[in-house]
Amino acid sequence: TTVEWEAESYDMGGHDTYMHKEIAEQAEAVDRVLRGRIDDKFATVHLGGLNLDPREARSVRRIKILGCGTSYHAGQIGAQLIEELARIPADAEPASEFRYRNPVVDPDTLYVAVSQSGETYDVLAAVQELKRKGARVLGVVNVVGSAIAREADGGTYVHAGPEVCVVSTKCFTNTVVAFALLALHLGRIRDLSVADGRRIIEGLRRLPGQIDEILKAEPEIKRLALHFADAKSMLFIGRVRGYPVAREASLKLKEVSYIHAEAYPASELKHGPLALVEPAMPTVAIVPDDELLEKNRAALEEIKARSGRILAVAHQEQEKADHTIIVPKNEDELDPILMGIPLQLFAYHTALALGRDIDKPRNLAKSVTVE
Ligand code: G6P
Repeated sequence: TTVEWEAESYDMGGHDTYMHKEIAEQAEAVDRVLRGRIDDKFATVHLGGLNLDPREARSVRRIKILGCGTSYHAGQIGAQLIEELARIPADAEPASEFRYRNPVVDPDTLYVAVSQSGETYDVLAAVQELKRKGARVLGVVNVVGSAIAREADGGTYVHAGPEVCVVSTKCFTNTVVAFALLALHLGRIRDLSVADGRRIIEGLRRLPGQIDEILKAEPEIKRLALHFADAKSMLFIGRVRGYPVAREASLKLKEVSYIHAEAYPASELKHGPLALVEPAMPTVAIVPDDELLEKNRAALEEIKARSGRILAVAHQEQEKADHTIIVPKNEDELDPILMGIPLQLFAYHTALALGRDIDKPRNLAKSVTVE
């Protein structure tokens, strides 16, 4: 019922697991998705396979992104990037929910299907249903020539390279970068200025070096993972750009370590999850240095006041946090691409400490090709 991965076919390259190898490969993977696509003269990017001419791109009124699991989370960040850079209303939804709720299919909406494997049944079925109803569907897919890539009207490949570990890391990062490229492309056809286009391009170019910088902190992240590995449950919080990062980080920890984790918008803490906060329930907080920094700091204060332990991922030391993992700052819009990366290592080292089957967590499959 599910596609088995063929671990034997790829070299581990000196790493103990594919997950570790794939985390380590992210700088070169991001380099690959950028390569040959940047147009400095017009401060934009070229995405060869989109099949969307500028007139069509200008007529799009909404963008609806569909995916499952980690790809859905990448789509959530993608939707924010599209809203920020192209000012097109956009949102992401699990493909499985979408296809069962008899959605209104609107001719002015551009649909985007996201999938690492390109074979996930719920995503494929959503694409087929949309096409049957005359919608235009793009694919943001990793595996070249896969079913979703073939069914879509156009799209872009993510170029993460083969991903073997059941839990997705490098493909998540590359998918988000691919969405940044799509958002920049659409933005420059619409109202994004040359100056902002240049600013985003420069930010994209800084990513590979910044990813390597983050990965150098592995010994410290490992120490923190060991510190929290006794937790039965963890809360992950973030706000706007940080929220999908928190969701993906929480999924990563659940999948690979089997520790229960729940992600919440930081703003919703007071509407429920604060009741859970106590020393035995640590919180991981995504705290970018953007216009919401003070609001996020206030959330840390609320947790601290209830004796919650806090691990922050931030651009500078957070006074209210017990521990801060500092990540390099990029442009505000691109920060989410980097902020989840230390938490991939955090999930990995937690799982390692707990003796989990890292590349093949129980009950999960790399690609779910049935309903
Ligand atoms: C499975 C995997 C997840 C993945 C999801 C979507 O549940 O275990 O890691 O995110 O499928 O897969 P896709 O290939 O469509 O991105």
